[in-house]
Amino acid sequence: MKYAPVRYDDYLKLNQLLSAQERISETKGRAAHDEMLFIIIHQVYELWFKQILFELDSILKTYNQVPVPESSLGQVVRELNRINEIFRILVQQVSVLETMTPFDFLDFRDDLYPASGFQSLQFRLLETKLGLNSNKRVQFAGSSYINHLPADQRAVIEQEMKLPSLKESLESWLERTPFVSEGTFDFWNQYFACVKNMIEGDMELVQKNPRLSEEEKKVSIGRLEMSLKQFEMLSGDQDYKKLQDSGFFEMSRKAILSALFILIYRDEPILHKPFEVIDALQDLDESMTQWRSRHALMAHRMIGTRIGTGGSSGGDYLQKAAGQHKIFTDFFNLSTFLIPRSQIPKLPDSLKKKMGFV
Ligand code: HEM
Repeated sequence: MKYAPVRYDDYLKLNQLLSAQERISETKGRAAHDEMLFIIIHQVYELWFKQILFELDSILKTYNQVPVPESSLGQVVRELNRINEIFRILVQQVSVLETMTPFDFLDFRDDLYPASGFQSLQFRLLETKLGLNSNKRVQFAGSSYINHLPADQRAVIEQEMKLPSLKESLESWLERTPFVSEGTFDFWNQYFACVKNMIEGDMELVQKNPRLSEEEKKVSIGRLEMSLKQFEMLSGDQDYKKLQDSGFFEMSRKAILSALFILIYRDEPILHKPFEVIDALQDLDESMTQWRSRHALMAHRMIGTRIGTGGSSGGDYLQKAAGQHKIFTDFFNLSTFLIPRSQIPKLPDSLKKKMGFV
């Protein structure tokens, strides 16, 4: 036989895997029962992080191509959905750790200093590869988190930061979206005309409403004018820059308008997969935030208001990170600019034909 028969334990390297749980408390002669769970749960997380990074690298490989092959988008969506399913488990798994009480944790917590999940290289790689903006990061013990990593880990992250993140590649891909401006059709001009029409119609209704007092009319008209102004911010590069400077949008105007186009005309066959990509990335951002919030709550329960073993302010740092460390906020904020289906501009027949599969 060319190859020896495969054995289950050899194939899975179970000897190595199952001998990798060493309780510090035991080596110090006062074995803490719950430290076994603590080690295993961290290892399980790291294994899932490995699988997530594996999928993400494959997605990045596709998205770093110019043009991104249309035929690979189905695979990208499947990979993103797999990552999302894993994250759902990562959130639920926190409850298993919570079968350990804060009092039991104290049996070995002091042995862990200064180690912390904060130094999870795979988690940092995940954030960096996805494109978490460094400016958004909560300061860690007074400076950037990267200064608190061991030198070898810092080098890995700095190397990764030189490569295009998924958010950056996605932005270029969106900027290249065809159909947004073709021939006499200019999506934004037509869309904005519909928005203006809709808001002016609403203003007229308010003015004619006999049940509203003059004061109430003034308030409602003021709100509608504000809403129109908000849409106007998307009309030109100068106003748009203000949206970027305030952090409302990170991506370019061109990319954002294309994303809006995809969200609105998602039922056109050629836009099915691009829409699913955007939708799955929103799911991912949501699941990661859920994980961060769940982990922050658990940490608060375990250590109260104590500082973390890694040196942060503990629960306070984690709560802030859950609020700020979001990656695809642009897509969430884009919902501000959606209008009802009945009001959207009709696509020219020639364009519709190009976007179909026939
Ligand atoms: C008793 C259980 C746990 C407690 C009390 C706890 C507490 C903390 C605290 C206080 C921090 C902030 C950094 C620091 O000062 O140490 C942190 C960060 C972190 N922990 Fe945990 N943790 C626990 C379990 C876990 C588990 C099971 C994982 C899974 C891998 C994990 C992953 C992380 C990660 C990735 C960070 C960095 C988060 C960020 O900077 O946004 N932790 N943890």
